[in-house]
Amino acid sequence: DDPYRVWLSEVMLQQTQVRTVLPYFARFVARFPTVETLAAAPLDEVLALWSGLGYYARARHLHAAARLWVARWPGTCPQGAQEWAQLPGVGRSTAAAIAAFVQRERVPILDGNVQRVLCRLFAVEEDPRAAQTVRRLWDAAHALLPLDPDDMPAYTQGMMDLGALVCTRTRPRCDLCPVAELCAAHRLGIAAQLPRKRARAPVPEQDVRWGWYEEDGAVWLVRRAPQGIWGGLWCLPSADEAPPGRWRTAGEIARLTHRLTHFTLKITVTRYLPETPRAAEPAAAWGEEARCLAPPEALALGVPQPLRRLLERAADAPIEHAKGNMRRFGVAKGKFEVSERIDEHDEDVARLFRGKEKP
Ligand code: ADE
Repeated sequence: DDPYRVWLSEVMLQQTQVRTVLPYFARFVARFPTVETLAAAPLDEVLALWSGLGYYARARHLHAAARLWVARWPGTCPQGAQEWAQLPGVGRSTAAAIAAFVQRERVPILDGNVQRVLCRLFAVEEDPRAAQTVRRLWDAAHALLPLDPDDMPAYTQGMMDLGALVCTRTRPRCDLCPVAELCAAHRLGIAAQLPRKRARAPVPEQDVRWGWYEEDGAVWLVRRAPQGIWGGLWCLPSADEAPPGRWRTAGEIARLTHRLTHFTLKITVTRYLPETPRAAEPAAAWGEEARCLAPPEALALGVPQPLRRLLERAADAPIEHAKGNMRRFGVAKGKFEVSERIDEHDEDVARLFRGKEKP
């Protein structure tokens, strides 16, 4: 019932399954046992611990929220859903969930799973994304709340579990459902068909080229701008953004496919070596936000998931200077896939998708 742990877990559980979150949550509370320790930590450390959970805006918001929390509610916590919603990264539904668990406030949640549950319960045929439908669903969610505030934690958790485990998107388990008898869609035999889907536009592809600039077994990383996809994480420079010195290409070492909800990134990674052999020490500096690190050291930073895989492979099977090629690199097929679904409302992706920013 620690408000800090409730908040942290609800943020981690946004768009991520419980099974995935568990080890991250354990590592997080071990390193940051209180909101004060999280607020005092450098953002880099938070991003590094978050690395692999995806949706990095959540990690940046989490850190900003911890700082706001200790500044505005020192020694205590936001009081009620209205105040929880003032924290970055805490929307209306997450705020309600936290307030229901921590303060037993009678406020409804309405995340994607609960929307689906309610569309079925009331046999809502309209597009659940339409603003008017969402308003109706919030009203319905409010009307269903238990009268006794002490029932709020169990009720809220029950709604979440119903949506996640029983009233699933495909093949709902109506045979296990405690409210099947109240469910209009079940009565009509259309539970699995609701909510009605809209036809999805094909997902566009975007090509990006990364450069693996390697010196003496170390590779150059640059820190991405704070906004946008993978904001604040360390990444390979784009292939045309060479570090100082003269470089020659040593071939393509990987093709990565990174799926996001609204588009697919096709990443080509080219390896570059110094034109003239350098001293054993890699070149010292390339600005504040660039570092030349051996793959195991690079893995200690916050890096995007596709780069993490690449670095892990490089750490296992170091690229040999003279004979480096895809086979030696351990990505013989030259291709592996990582997926990360991004919520429609993720502001960074929305911006990227509108084409204002190139990855
Ligand atoms: N998703 C978001 N919050 C959750 C919770 N408390 N339990 C299970 N899944 C969740």
